[in-house]
Amino acid sequence: MKIALFDAKDYDRPAFEKYAALHDFEIKFFETKLTEDTADLARGFDAVCIFVNDTANRPVLEALYENGVKALALRCAGYNNVDLEAAYGKIHVFRVPAYSPYAVAEHAMALLLTSVRRIHKAYIRTRDFNFSLNGMTGFDLHGKTVGVVGTGKIGRVFIDICRGFGMNVIAYDKFPAKDSGIDYVTLDELFERSDIISLHCPLTEETMHTVNAGSIAKMKKGVVLINTSRGALVDSEALLEGIKQRQIGAACLDVYEEESDIFFEDFSGHIVNDDTIARLISMPNVIVTSHQAFLTREALENIAQTTVENLAQFEKEGLCDNELCYHCGQTQMSECRHNKKQRCF
Ligand code: NAI
Repeated sequence: MKIALFDAKDYDRPAFEKYAALHDFEIKFFETKLTEDTADLARGFDAVCIFVNDTANRPVLEALYENGVKALALRCAGYNNVDLEAAYGKIHVFRVPAYSPYAVAEHAMALLLTSVRRIHKAYIRTRDFNFSLNGMTGFDLHGKTVGVVGTGKIGRVFIDICRGFGMNVIAYDKFPAKDSGIDYVTLDELFERSDIISLHCPLTEETMHTVNAGSIAKMKKGVVLINTSRGALVDSEALLEGIKQRQIGAACLDVYEEESDIFFEDFSGHIVNDDTIARLISMPNVIVTSHQAFLTREALENIAQTTVENLAQFEKEGLCDNELCYHCGQTQMSECRHNKKQRCF
């Protein structure tokens, strides 16, 4: 199998080369992202491998299909960048449902601790031999209420970590986990009661801008918002306004709704044309990381292994356990061909 891997970074290569060799797959790394302009690079490849900021909309998928591509392997869990309806009947889409929920949950806690204990400020001060403590007062996490939106794999690990800190955890999930011992509340109650809110649900039409001007108004004054899930869960303009109004006490962002043209690239020495992210980064109580919550050695290894094994299973059996299917998502589970170990199309 010949695989075209888009948006390739140096850290992707070692694990992908290792697992591709195990299956005798030929893999070519393209540094460019997959877009309508670059889809023709995939001509002659059997499969295309993409990440979170590549585009797999209808025109891109149609171009890939015309170029003979049979499979699209996402090397990530989220799939909001793929038009599954457009892919159906043409290109099989696979993902890596879990590679290290610990990586993301631990990063969320790292951001929270950094923010509330002012570590980002202390690091810069002491490097300049400034040992003053003025403006560095934080607060104890112990006893605070954290509201977790989305109690899937990552949300649950984050809940365990928070419980270890003696925090009081409340949660909202559209599909609450039965017998989990999690204290579920409505989304409005979560907004009203939480000292800290952490987002761990997928980005869908329904969850888009879960954090908006209306929900921010319901939150406790001084709330800390953590988003390690997907940028568009938060209306960035409303967040900025909430920070300016002192309603939001701090924001920890690993994702940003307009990140695709900015994140993963080096813009030092350039003028960034996005005033909202520039203003957010200028705030003393905002910490931004560049969609790096997944980036641990363990996660990179698991991502490469599962991505290549997804393609190997598809090559051998014509189906893949980790296939994403528009048809199955639209019908009753009993009608799901995928669940019956049959090809989705
Ligand atoms: P998961 O599928 O295990 O859990 C998602 C949870 O969200 C489920 O419990 C589901 O019921 C819930 N949910 C679905 N619709 C909802 C709604 N409308 N409102 C509230 N909850 C809803 O997914 P996992 O592995 O925990 O990942 C969560 C998200 O984290 C992914 O969708 C992805 O966007 C993001 N992510 C970010 C990474 C990063 O590097 N920053 C890396 C990996 C994932």
